[in-house]
Amino acid sequence: MKHFLSISDMNTTEIMELLQEADTFSRGEQWKTTEPVFVANLFYEPSTRTKCSFEIAERRLGLELLPFEIGNSSVLKGETLYDTIKTLQSIGVKLAVIRHKQDHYYEQLINHVDLSIVNGGDGSGQHPSQCLLDLLTIKQEFGYFNGLNVLIVGDIVHSRVARSNYEALRKLGANVKFSGPRDWFDPTFLQTDYIEINQGIKEADVVMLLRIQHERHEQSAQFSKADYHIQYGLTLEREQQMKQGSIIMHPGPVNRDVEIASELVEGKRSRIFKQMENGVFARMAILKTILQNEKVVC
Ligand code: CP
Repeated sequence: MKHFLSISDMNTTEIMELLQEADTFSRGEQWKTTEPVFVANLFYEPSTRTKCSFEIAERRLGLELLPFEIGNSSVLKGETLYDTIKTLQSIGVKLAVIRHKQDHYYEQLINHVDLSIVNGGDGSGQHPSQCLLDLLTIKQEFGYFNGLNVLIVGDIVHSRVARSNYEALRKLGANVKFSGPRDWFDPTFLQTDYIEINQGIKEADVVMLLRIQHERHEQSAQFSKADYHIQYGLTLEREQQMKQGSIIMHPGPVNRDVEIASELVEGKRSRIFKQMENGVFARMAILKTILQNEKVVC
């Protein structure tokens, strides 16, 4: 694996191998590079979880992390993504983690640069490292994917998390349904994949809630926070309808009392903070796999 760009590029064996590696890290495996390897994280969109957990993963693996902040770089002087990456490559960076607002931004890079690219999220495209940590959390909980019912609720059409998880979970045999405002359902998915929320909640083993991606809406959202919560949020009443043993997930950042009742964020069913913890292990697995396969390190 030279790059880690999209779940679409991966088969089930590759996904399961990465999950196995991430699970091993979650159990305390130690692995460090034997020689200096320079990496850079370029976040053209805001991030807390992805950026910070990649940084921790990189430090735990002994990588040399180049301090790079978009807002303090020559991007502000008009330097393009391509020229920025070529520059970093020229001075010795071997791997770049990139988040960018443009869908498939990496297509302009992959055939023209030698360094490895890890996608930290592309517009409304994919968020494959989030997907891996979500899969790890589900696997730790249930031990399997085949036949699991997963309900993804919210701003589906703008969500790279929804797209990545839909593809991966279906490859692994899970049943994925969507709910939320009909206007925000992605028409490229099967119409039969949409379910009314009160029905979907009762059937799901995993209820995955999504943030409203205000920054990707052309018009401001048509709901007040309170209206959205009542119509499509995981309210205290809806949580009571969930199956025994079912869990709540959310990629974060969470808007309490909008997509989920505040009391449920740290409640018994919630695996939201477990997801964040697993983010470090998933990202360690991705980085280790690239570095070993590319023979950057032994
Ligand atoms: N889940 C996620 O991508 O969070 P951040 O935007 O904080 O990285």
